[in-house]
Amino acid sequence: MKEVKIKRQFDQVASALSIIMDQVGDGNLLHSRRVAVIATALSEIVMPEKRDIIFYASLLHDVGAVIFGKHILMFPSLGEQKRDPSVFKHPTIGSEIISKISGLKEAEGYIQDHHEWYDGSGYPLGKKGKEISLGAQVIRIADAIDMKIHVHGSDPFTDIYNYLRLHEGREFDPDLWNAVLDLKNKDAGTFFTRLSDNIGLNIGLQMMYSEVIKSVDPYWLTPTGRRQDYIYGSESALAVFSEIIDAKHKYTRKHSERVAFLGGKIARIMELPQMEIEQIKHAAYLHDIGKVFVPPDILDKAGLLSSREIEIMKRYTIITMEILDTIEAFRNLTAIAGFCQERYDGKGYPDGLSGEDIPVGARILGVADAVDAMLSDRAYRKALSVENTIVQLERCSGTQFDPTVATVVAGLLSNKEILEEMRKEHFIV
Ligand SMILES: [Fe+2]
Ligand SMILES: [Fe+2]
Repeated sequence: MKEVKIKRQFDQVASALSIIMDQVGDGNLLHSRRVAVIATALSEIVMPEKRDIIFYASLLHDVGAVIFGKHILMFPSLGEQKRDPSVFKHPTIGSEIISKISGLKEAEGYIQDHHEWYDGSGYPLGKKGKEISLGAQVIRIADAIDMKIHVHGSDPFTDIYNYLRLHEGREFDPDLWNAVLDLKNKDAGTFFTRLSDNIGLNIGLQMMYSEVIKSVDPYWLTPTGRRQDYIYGSESALAVFSEIIDAKHKYTRKHSERVAFLGGKIARIMELPQMEIEQIKHAAYLHDIGKVFVPPDILDKAGLLSSREIEIMKRYTIITMEILDTIEAFRNLTAIAGFCQERYDGKGYPDGLSGEDIPVGARILGVADAVDAMLSDRAYRKALSVENTIVQLERCSGTQFDPTVATVVAGLLSNKEILEEMRKEHFIV
């Protein structure tokens, strides 16, 4: 078993991601968790040596769908899935996101192929037969089972069985049929009942999930140096989270990275301790994570938002804080990321904090965030010029912005070398 701390941090991040992926409106479909429990059980039968990697791969198998704001369970048939361009792409995008987590190489392949069908009718590549890895097929079967549980609620058993019987040799390798039968008999025949028990609270599933996650060992996380626990616990996770946020919203692509760059520069000029500078940069990567829950039609809306839509928009900062709080390694970033939409004059959100009551990191990120927004093209307007951005900084100093931070940024934007560096970081300046 890996060092306990690394495992715990890794598991917290993976669990938080699975919740993010399955949130639909106010409810959570728990698709990833159910698929992970089923796929892990199947792997114990057909590929026990890969059980632990299968657990993480299946937990994150739909990570590529999170950015589209559509849940795959809303597309029950293969035909519907193939017709929707974003659903069609989700295995490829998911494997790209997973490739950012060092050491999850094997999971990448399983995720890329998890919608390929044995008869070649799947997507995105139309692979056939033994071209599809066993791990991908295990996830395919688990995925199909959860689709049935979702559609048929609390008594899915006969339906699952009939479906799989019909799809043996079409959707998955006929050699796997015996494993499906073993699964049916698992835990004295109670496996599927527990899984689908109590739809709504899903106590049965949640207990099964916590048993499994406790038992897996992320053995492939190899030590890379003295900061290994921190790197695996949060830095690769930071990269993944910011990848997801940026991919979700095309106008803010690379936004998190730029806010981290600018936030770090400001903090350094303000001579904050090195530790705090690092925290501000990390918080910048995560400050928009709650936006994953904002429906794309509101996030991408070109015109003015209605008051109801504004309320939904504002909720994202609270959700950001809730997500960060579930991950120990991110807990010290919660206030910095969560309060970056507060205003110096107290008219911001979510809490209406003012002045020095707003953590200094959040005040810095607030300005960095606004400056990047001003310097970027939006659906409804072109980017502001650097000169105009400086004018806005001065105009809103002391109201929206902390005056000290605003002055520092105006200084940065007046410096040719810094502007050159910003261009390299993909700022439009
Ligand atoms: Fe999928
Ligand atoms: Fe899925």
